[in-house]
Amino acid sequence: MKKRIAVYPGSFDPLHNGHQDLIERSLQIFDEVIVAVLRNEEKEPLFSSEERVEMIQEQMEPFSNCRVDRFSGLLVDFVDSVGACCVVRGLRAVSDFEYEFQMALMNKRLNPRIETFFMAPKEDFTYVSSRTVKEVFFLGGNLEGLVPSRVLDRLERRKAQELARA
Ligand code: PNS
Repeated sequence: MKKRIAVYPGSFDPLHNGHQDLIERSLQIFDEVIVAVLRNEEKEPLFSSEERVEMIQEQMEPFSNCRVDRFSGLLVDFVDSVGACCVVRGLRAVSDFEYEFQMALMNKRLNPRIETFFMAPKEDFTYVSSRTVKEVFFLGGNLEGLVPSRVLDRLERRKAQELARA
C-alpha cells in the first residue's frame, strides 16, 4: 500500500511543546511526517532556518518516521515534491480559524490533490505560541514545561550572544 506522508509546515521560531505534541500525535496517524521549516530569513527570525531544522531534528531524533526539511515558495509545491498527501496544521483557538481556513482553501485551489488535516492541540498547550515563548523568555519569565530543554538552552545561548553584541 502507498505510504501516507504528511507535511507539518511552519516557522518554528522556535519549536515549542505544542508543536512537538502535534508532531508526535500525527506520527501515529501517518506513515511519515515531514516537518517543513519555512525559509523566512527576510523576516529576521530569532533562529536561522538551519538552526530551526537542527533543533527539530535533535528533538525528533527518536522517531524514525519523522523527517525535517526546509522549504521556500509555495507550500503545495513542496508537499507535491515530497509525494505527501496532506498538510497538518494545529488549530489552537477560534482566532486561528480564519487564517487557517483561508490558507487551506487557497492550498486546495492551488492543488486539489492535497488535503489539510487540522488537529486540536493538547489542552495544556492551547495558549502556547512561538511568539509568546520568545516574549516571555526575553522578559525573564519561566518557560519550564512549554519548550524542550534543548530549545531553552538555545534561547539562553542566543540571549548571551545578543547581550555580548550590545
Ligand atoms: O507557523 P506559521 O508561521 O503560521 O506557518 C505558516 C506557513 C509556513 C504554513 C505559511 O506561511 C505557508 O505555507 N507559507 C508558504 C507560502 C504559501 O504557500 N502560501 C500560500 C498559502 S496561503
